[in-house]
Amino acid sequence: MSFRVDLNVIAQQEQLSRFALTLHNLSDDAITIQSFNFIFDRYVTPNSVQHGTFTQVGSHCRFTPSSARLDANDSMYLEFEVNTFPLRYLSDGIKDACIETIEFKKPISVTRTPIVLVKPTATEETVPAVEPSKLALIPQPTHLTRADGNLILGREFNLVSCHPDAQAAIQWLQDESLSLHGLSLRITPTDSHPSIDYIHNPIFDQDAYRITVTALGCLVEAGEPAGFHNASATLLQLMQTNSIGHCSLPVVTIKDSPRFSYRGFMLDCARHFHPISSIKRLINQLAHYKINTFHWHLTDDEAWRIEIKALPELTDIGAWRGPGLPIEPQFSHASQKYGGVYTQQQIKGLIEYAQRRGITIIPEIDIPGHCRAAIRSLPDMLVDTDDPSRYRSVQNYSDNVLSPALKGTYQFLDIVLEEIAQLFPSQWVHIGADEVPKGVWVDSAACQAMMLEHGYQSPVELQGHLLRYAEQKLKSFGKRMVGWEEAQHGNKVSKETVIYSWLSEDAAINCAKQGFDVILQPAQYTYLDMAQSDMASEPGVDWANSISLKHAYHYRPLSAVDEQDPIHKRVLGIQAAIWSEIITDQERLDYMLFPRITALAEVMWSREQQRHWPDYLARLKGHLTQLKRQGVTYRAPWN
Ligand code: ACM
Repeated sequence: MSFRVDLNVIAQQEQLSRFALTLHNLSDDAITIQSFNFIFDRYVTPNSVQHGTFTQVGSHCRFTPSSARLDANDSMYLEFEVNTFPLRYLSDGIKDACIETIEFKKPISVTRTPIVLVKPTATEETVPAVEPSKLALIPQPTHLTRADGNLILGREFNLVSCHPDAQAAIQWLQDESLSLHGLSLRITPTDSHPSIDYIHNPIFDQDAYRITVTALGCLVEAGEPAGFHNASATLLQLMQTNSIGHCSLPVVTIKDSPRFSYRGFMLDCARHFHPISSIKRLINQLAHYKINTFHWHLTDDEAWRIEIKALPELTDIGAWRGPGLPIEPQFSHASQKYGGVYTQQQIKGLIEYAQRRGITIIPEIDIPGHCRAAIRSLPDMLVDTDDPSRYRSVQNYSDNVLSPALKGTYQFLDIVLEEIAQLFPSQWVHIGADEVPKGVWVDSAACQAMMLEHGYQSPVELQGHLLRYAEQKLKSFGKRMVGWEEAQHGNKVSKETVIYSWLSEDAAINCAKQGFDVILQPAQYTYLDMAQSDMASEPGVDWANSISLKHAYHYRPLSAVDEQDPIHKRVLGIQAAIWSEIITDQERLDYMLFPRITALAEVMWSREQQRHWPDYLARLKGHLTQLKRQGVTYRAPWN
């Protein structure tokens, strides 16, 4: 059987595009179409589709033609419109498609030709040519002096340490030296030559460290485990091996500490499932760039990934999507069951793996919006059948918000938050709170009664009410709630909540002025699911803008805030992120991450005066061999 779909943009304005879609039957037989299903993530104006019935749930579009028969070598044609900004990329087209027919029991996959765009861009800005730097350190340290000569360590040498704070960092250095450089490092408690000696020095605070390399030895000093980890990351970038596998370190003194104490990366594991092995690989990579926090986006409309022992339906049902399942196919795999679960056992292993690399894992359970997978899994608990309110979320769902007037919502939160709090040692738990659609709850008699009871003027206060409940619950488990910038809408959560701004830096600055601690995650610079150029062939999205390597590197956090302004103290750090709508596999993840994550790691760590674009490029060029060695399929900055 052979079917193909073509999609052309036939007219395009700022907020209106019109499409022509053709489905070809290239087989030798006529078929009777029950539905043509395709994945397309813009919202199709429903009454723009004719000659059949059309429904869309999220990115899943289903068209049932009024004339069902499609003869061999014939085609079916339809047009439709969207009222969003223009499409620029081939990855904006149909992501997958299949047909359901009378003749065949299973859905039949449909191949796709690339979307035909209006005026596709074929060129991109080039990165200046540079010579690779021999001292390829990323992020750039605060103070570095290089002298002549090298410390020759050979192929096998000792790591000396007595202090327990250095133990994990030394173990990690040992593992990574072996896997990256083929080096055998012995750990001994006594002085011996040649060696790298880790010494506890209480003058260094949390992340800070000093490395002193002479021709005779290497001394690493730090005051806390984080400082030792950062030193190990630097050593791994300083190590040079020659053609016979012998290691040397350049004679340097490095005294280093970060600009921001929180340096984070968020991965969305709901839209596509990333196996534990891939997350471990990522966490290990983050440690190399001194990123100390992994924010794990575990639940969303399209999947609930974390095992909750008291509510097995959440993963039995909510972790899977596919034809005929409670959750329709989304973003890929139109004709198959797709999904995955992280068991609590696996999560414990991952937490330990991250701890050994100096990385804290913050779990995110996104409420009250972005909850469709949970709601589809637990309809008896989470669906308010008496609420006729109509709404549509940004991602095209009309049934993805928890109700603040439903008893089940609170039972659900009690169970989930307790298991999360017990499982994750992290002080912080992320509660999401983003993108609750307008129109939610407005026609619910129970919500209206609740507003009256509490004197609330706007439904957004109901959201605040729910989040305050979550905040207090988490507090009772000894946790601090953190959430997206919308968490403080409705003015109910306490100033203890940490706010992550994502739409821009402005929300963070406003929240910091009000007394919240904040994390900066502006989509315009830090969302690495944004495409890396304007070229049509570039995979990615661009609702914030495209983010080239140069653009990412030139993020200047808080550049609009006076240096003396006390709100700087409220800005705890910076986080980069990947939303996984189009991140289907490891290769795509690598491509979107590298090398931009190295640029953003430098934004998080290094002060403005240490950051220079040509100098960073030279270090990046020197560093690429290390990425190659790890098998990272990065986007080549130079062709
Ligand atoms: C977000 O990007 N909705 C936090």
